[in-house]
Formats: sequence, structure tokens, C-alpha cells
Amino acid sequence: MLTESPHIEPDIIQGGMGIAVSSWKLAREVATHGALGVVSGTAIDSVIARRLQDGDADGSIRKAMRHFPNQQIVHEILEMYFIEGGKAQGLPYTLLPKITVAPTCFATNLIVVSTFIEVWLAKEGHSGLVGINALQKIQMAIPAQIYGAILAEVDYILMGAGIPSEVPSIIRDLSQNKVITLPIDVASAKSKHFLKFDPHLIASLPHSPRLPKFLAIISSHALAAYLSRDDTTRPDGFVVEGFNAGGHNAPPRSKDSMGEDGQSKFTDIDSADLSKVAKTGLPFWLAGGYGTPLGLAEAKKLGAVGIQVGSLFALAKESGLTDELRKKVTDLVVQDSMKVRTDPFASPTGFPFKIVQLDGTLSESELFRERNRLCDLGYLRVPFERTNGSLGYRCPAEPLKTYTFKKGESKNAPVAHCLCNALMADVGLGQTRPDGYKELPMLTLGSDLAGIKALSELHVAGWNSRDVLDFLRS
Ligand SMILES: Cc1cc2nc3c(=O)[nH]c(=O)nc-3n(C[C@H](O)[C@H](O)[C@H](O)COP(=O)(O)O)c2cc1C
Repeated sequence: MLTESPHIEPDIIQGGMGIAVSSWKLAREVATHGALGVVSGTAIDSVIARRLQDGDADGSIRKAMRHFPNQQIVHEILEMYFIEGGKAQGLPYTLLPKITVAPTCFATNLIVVSTFIEVWLAKEGHSGLVGINALQKIQMAIPAQIYGAILAEVDYILMGAGIPSEVPSIIRDLSQNKVITLPIDVASAKSKHFLKFDPHLIASLPHSPRLPKFLAIISSHALAAYLSRDDTTRPDGFVVEGFNAGGHNAPPRSKDSMGEDGQSKFTDIDSADLSKVAKTGLPFWLAGGYGTPLGLAEAKKLGAVGIQVGSLFALAKESGLTDELRKKVTDLVVQDSMKVRTDPFASPTGFPFKIVQLDGTLSESELFRERNRLCDLGYLRVPFERTNGSLGYRCPAEPLKTYTFKKGESKNAPVAHCLCNALMADVGLGQTRPDGYKELPMLTLGSDLAGIKALSELHVAGWNSRDVLDFLRS
């Protein structure tokens, strides 16, 4: 028997922010103060493996691991990645097996355990609500992420960046320990491809696990209507994200989609019709430029339960961002010279991506050109079928020769940025190359800066997540 979570819906959702910007520390603080704290599941296996190689100084990861129901798997992961006292400065991090349609047991286990750890830590010591954010685009990791989160008794699963129509049934099936056979999008495929995930190989759930709620992150009312039409695809609610939001945005719908300034150009038709979202009868939250007290009031007036806020929390002291990046951004805000551009081509996903113009980061074109292209994390690789029927994987940000050899067709490849490595650097987990090159960060934030400006005037020395919540509810 599955039991639904009985809780009241939160008015504020702290948005999931990858990679590890919305880490367990941020989500736990937010959840403790009555909002929904959301950890990021994106590349969480690399995040945990690197924290272990840095020595897990406060012991939190190993503490969470002791609660994982299969200690044999935990032992294997510790053997592979944990370094007492941390790896020597300047040495590269050990890489992980990349996700594929037919992953090894070790790769799958690592995603399950890593997700479990992040959610478990966010939930420790309080009874507030914790969610996990994952990306539909990183399809091959989804069953393992959901299972790890369910094992840690997550309250909400939130997913966007695609059409998450399979997710409600994956959640239901995994909550009952059923095997998942997930169809995978494979470019140039002549046959169907499936990823198999068998929870029995990992651990057993308690007899009556709580079923987490599922919120689909969408940007169009048409998708809300489509998903809510059928029992198998219907989520428990929606986060309706506008084009001001930090991170990725849905591509503009108009044909004339690029402005003279080289940025993605959004128009009225890119905003969801909220009356149509409301017609689905499901609760919804608004995201993208709603991070002010007025924004919260406005959202409620428009029929939303509340808001999802990203940028204000990304700059809070508990977020995963390095102090250096946070300080650089705060200085720009104080000087009134902060610029966020919506780059149509930088993300290998093909979605527009918001980039903060910041010295010393890959937003500087010279630094982007100086970097040797390589793809060693591979979360944004997509599978394709070769003429002989075997599968390959490619990413527009990998070396151009390799990408062309793999018959990759994205015209944006020459300017595609390696988001995987840059976003790891944002949270202090960037790779060092054998020649001493250190991967550079690249920061994303929302383009509506009203909330950031107001908070930086209220808290000149910076703010924490409690300050954000007090501000939003003031
Ligand atoms: C640093 C950063 C990273 C983000 N990463 C993700 C992500 O991994 N997945 C996701 O669904 N949304 C992501 N977002 C979007 C937020 O969850 C949220 O919806 C958005 O920031 C709300 O707009 P706001 O920044 O104007 O408050 C990110 C936003 C920021 C600022």
C-alpha cells in the first residue's frame, strides 16, 4: 500500500539549482524555515565522488552513507573515491563511469547512493519538506535518481527541461519496487532502445513507503494540458517558469527568435496562459522574476499557490557557490553593473542559457577560446545509433573533430560551452588538468534583478536563506 504525503503545500519553493548550487545545506535551512528546500540531482554522482576525494572533512557524507540500506555498495564507493585528508592539491579528480543506456551496476549504484546522501542530509534533524530537482534531458539517470531519493524519503520530485511524461509512473513503480524499462531518445535510431533499472539489485523499500509528490516544471499551458489529461502522465502540480528564470529557458516560440544583441528574444507568446494552467485543476507555482514580496502577492493573485525562487537563494551563504563568485556578483550588484545575457547557443542542450557577465569566468570569450575542448563528465551527451546498429554518444561541446566524426549536426557546436565542467567549478569542485589548467566557472542567474538589489541593500554583508524567506514574506 502506498501512502500519499499528507503535508500542506508550501508558499515558497527554493528552486533546484545544478550543479550542487542548491546543495543539502541550503535545502535543509530552507526546509527548516517552512518552505520547500530542493536539492539538485544533476551530476550528483560526480559531486559526491569529488567531495569524498576532498576528504569529506565534516564526515557528513559518510554519516549519511551509514543509513543506506546496502552497505556492500557503500563500501565499494568508499574504496573507489574516499581519500582520508583529501587528495593532494593540484592532482586531478578521478573520473566516474559515464551514464549510458546500459550502465554498469557500479555507475547505477553510485547515482542511487549519491542521490540518497544529498536528500538524506537535507532532511536530517527537522520535519520540513525536501524535494529533489532533476532534468528530463539527462534521461538515462532518471530512474536511479528517483530511486535514491525515494529511499531517503524525499517529499517532492521536480523535473523540467523536457517533457516529463514518464515520471509519474516511474515514481509509482519504484515506490513499489518494480523494475523500470524506460524508452530512451536515441538520435538516428532504427530500433527502440530501453534503459532497464532493477531496484532489487540495490535495496528493498519499507512495506508502505510514502509516495513523493511530483511537480512538472513547464513553460507552456499546452504542456500543462497535455500532461494533466491522463492518469499515467498527470503530475501533482506545476512550476510555471518564465523566460526571466536563471539556468536554462525554453526556446522562444517566435520564428524571429534572436535579438540584434545576439540574445534569445522572447515575446508575449512565450508566457504561459495561467488561466489555462488553472483549468487543469492542479496547484501551480510561478518562477522567474517572482523573488520579491510583491512577486509572491502577485502570484497568489494570479491563482498560484506561491512561487519558486532561484537567484536569491543561489547568492545566500548556504548555497554551494564559492565565496569568490558570490562576492564578485555582490560587488557588481552594488556597483549597478551586473549584466545577465540569454545566450541562445552556449548550452549543448540547444536551450537558451542565462549567463552572468563576470571577469575570470567562461563568459569572457577569450577565456572560452583558450580552453581545450574535451568531454569527460558527459552528462549532456546524447545517444545516437551508428549505421551498424551500435550506440554512440556525442555532445556539441566536445572536440569539434570528434563531434563531426560522430555525425553531430548542431550548428552551434563551435560556440557550445562545456557546462558540466564549468558548473562543477562554480561550486569549488572544478577539475585540474595534467598541464595545470584549472577548469573555469560560468555563472547563471535570472535576469530580473529587483529582488537581488533589494536584498543587497538590506544586507550589505550578504544574506542567508532565512533572510531570503523573511524578505519574501515581509
Ligand atoms: C544558479 C542556478 C541554477 C539553476 N539550475 C537549475 C536546474 O538545475 N534545474 C532547474 O529545473 N532549474 C534550475 N534553475 C532555475 C531555478 O530553479 C528557478 O526556477 C529560477 O531561478 C527562478 O527564477 P529566479 O532566478 O528569477 O528566481 C537554476 C537557477 C539558477 C539561478
